[in-house]
This record gives sequence, structure tokens and C-alpha cells, in this order.
Amino acid sequence: MTGDIQGFTLPPDKSILHRLLVIGSLTEATIDVPLQSADLPLDIEATIGCLQSLGVRIDRTPLGLRIYGSGLNGWRTPQAPLNCGNSGTTARLLTGALCAQPITVTLTGDESLSRRPMKRLANLLNEHFGADVSVSTNDGLPLTIKGKALQPSDVRTPAASAQLKSALLLAALHTPGTSTITEPSVSRDHTEVMLQAFGVELSCENNKITIHSKRAIPLAGSSTYIVPLDISAAYYLIVAAILNGKSIRLENVLLNPTRTRFLSLLSETFANIELTDQRTEWGELRGSIIVQPTQVKAASFTIGGEDIPQLIDELPLLAVLAAFLDGKLIVKDAGELRFKESDRIALVVKNLQSFGVGASETATGFEVSGQKGFKPKSAEIEHRGDHRIAMAFALMAGHGESVVTISDPSVVSVSYPGYFTDLAKIIGREHIQFV
Ligand code: S3P
Repeated sequence: MTGDIQGFTLPPDKSILHRLLVIGSLTEATIDVPLQSADLPLDIEATIGCLQSLGVRIDRTPLGLRIYGSGLNGWRTPQAPLNCGNSGTTARLLTGALCAQPITVTLTGDESLSRRPMKRLANLLNEHFGADVSVSTNDGLPLTIKGKALQPSDVRTPAASAQLKSALLLAALHTPGTSTITEPSVSRDHTEVMLQAFGVELSCENNKITIHSKRAIPLAGSSTYIVPLDISAAYYLIVAAILNGKSIRLENVLLNPTRTRFLSLLSETFANIELTDQRTEWGELRGSIIVQPTQVKAASFTIGGEDIPQLIDELPLLAVLAAFLDGKLIVKDAGELRFKESDRIALVVKNLQSFGVGASETATGFEVSGQKGFKPKSAEIEHRGDHRIAMAFALMAGHGESVVTISDPSVVSVSYPGYFTDLAKIIGREHIQFV
């Protein structure tokens, strides 16, 4: 099977690259990271900027990036608070990694990030590991971390959140001894995979991770880490292709099983999906995805429980897809969506309604009534600075005569700077108006 459209500019997987920057800078290794484009997601730029302010050397080379690890305790007092921009992953990972550095650091962020909850993480770090993290009264940023010696601990997280889990693992790494982190269900596992690949003694059994810290990451010398392309970004192109009856081929995309639930949902219901050239490097599976649209096999479905953490970033996209199918989508147990870059439950429903789709909110999810052959009304996307809302609702374009209006389209650069150029290869330019 060959895909029709190729040559997209998918970004490197954001979750993996954040971790490579943070964990790489805690090693004593020099890591080359080849990149296809120097135009990196802004969230990644935020992590690079924060680490550089902490004295970590990260160079831009003709090939991509070079990270010079400065060891587990090599970070230095920054001259000013660290600005995490819009990036929750930057703020959470750094909070965990900073609480045993012998320095005091304040983290800030943009308006959206400053409203996102940090107390949940701060309390776990303080109560279990003996950290000193103080959060502003509104529960978000700014937040101040006073580094100190930590003790190992056994922690149960209140939610399946990879950011929370990763921050706890990075704190545990700095303690003398064995810690365990148990999640209610499995969230994306890139931190565990990377720590293991870099030689840390760590094991996973169901939802429980055991980490034996020797207070150093064994990786040393020079290495090259090729980051697979971002599957969460690829999903927008895949859904665009399915909705517009096109076939596409995407190469070197991340296929880690904790990120491919949406792909299996698509192949169970809407598309013929072939995976080829699969290989594992640094513990992370990657390969090519070839998508051929097909007759819809099932249209009404309910998503909840353990599926939610595996689909968390794809739920707005699933809502858009559901608008075009005869049947009802029910999403439940997804209260975490209210604390993303925006309240994604409220914004998904509001935008669906603007485009003429029957949709309603519940406390922890939403319901969408779809219709085969649906022709959206012309409308402006209300994204409130949330990249995933802007990218998902851009897919309302290309069906009938309606026009989708997007203000401040550069919001997509948070995760996928080339998105609108790539999308135009599938749906053309004429149905989207940028203002
Ligand atoms: C991420 C984890 C998820 C996800 C986010 C990236 C990560 O957040 O929504 O886009 O890289 O760890 P939560 O851990 O808050 O669910």
C-alpha cells in the first residue's frame, strides 16, 4: 500500500524531546539530537531556555541540538525566574528535577499556564520526598522550589498523569535508595523508558514503577538520539485525510503503545491503517503510518476509564471527527481536560455548537451527535490560545462551502509550527481564513 500525500513537516515528539533535554542535561554525556527543522515547537524552546538559564549548555548545531549534560547536581542559580511559557510539561518536569538541586528557583509561565494546578504536585513532592516547593495562593504559577536533600518514598498519584509521574520520578532519582510510584492507570511512559535506556535501575509492573536510585544517571560519553516525529501532531493530518477521503504516508513517527490508542480506535472504526518500517531505538518504537480511508464500521461509541490517559491530547480531535459520523460519541471520566491549556470540555462543546454540531457538556466529559455528510456552518474558532483546539477545529474546513476563521493562527507553533502548511496539502487553502 502506498500513501498518496507525503512530505509533511511534522515536529519531533514533544513529550520525548522535553524529557531528552531535561534528563539529558542531568547525565554526564554529550547528546546530539538531529532535527529536520530548526523551527522547534515553542514549548520545546521554553524548556531549552529554562535549562540554559540554569547553566546547562545546549548548542544549536548544523544538525540540530547538542546537549552537554552537567550531572545530577550541576544546575546553577538562574539570574531571574524561569519562564515556562505555555508549557505544562516544562513546569512539571523542572519542578521535580529542581527540588534536590542545591539552589532556589522560581518558575513562571504565561497566563494560561499560571492558571493550571501545581499544588497537587507540590504537595506530593513535599509530603513524600521532603521537598520544599511553595505554590502561589491561586494554585498555579509562580512557584518557588528551594532545593534540599530528599528521602526516597512510596507514592500513589491521585490521577494518571504523565507529567505528575515524571516529576516524581525525577525527584526520586535524587534520593538515596528505592522509591515506588503507583498510578491509578497507565499514562504515557517516556520518562521510565528514557531513564531505563540511560542505565537507571527501574522496573515497571502494571501501574507501579520501582526506581533504585544511585544518585547518578549512568549514560556517559557521546551519543546520538533521533527523536521520532510527534504522533499527537500526526493525528491531525490523519483525521484530515480520513475526513477528506485521501490517503497519506507519514514516516519515522513515534509508535509507543501508550500513545497509539487513538490509532487503534481509528483502525477499528474509520480507516485502513498500515504500520511499516517499525524499529525500536532508545526503547521507543517508531515507524511509518500509511492511512487509507474506508467505509465507517462503527459510529456510536463511549470512551472513558483507562482509555482517557492514553487519549488525553486526542479528545478534541475525536470530538471533531465524531461530528461527521452517524451516531453519538460519549466521553466520560475526562475531568483532567478542564485543566489543560484551556478548559477543553467547555471549548470543545462551544466550538462544536458554533459549527452547527449537537453537543453538550457533562462534569467530566462531553457528548457529540454526529451526522454522516455533515456540512459545518461558517464560524470562527474560539481557541483562547489553546493550540490543540485551534488545530482540531481547523478540520471543520474543506466540507462544502463553509469558511473556518482562525484568529492568531500562530498559536499552533506551541506544538506544530508547520501545521497550516501541511494541512493545506490535504484540504487546500481556500476554506480557511486567517485574521
Ligand atoms: C504530557 C502529558 C499529558 C499531556 C501533555 C504532555 C507529557 O499531560 O496532556 O500534552 O509529556 O507528560 P498530563 O500528564 O497532565 O495528563
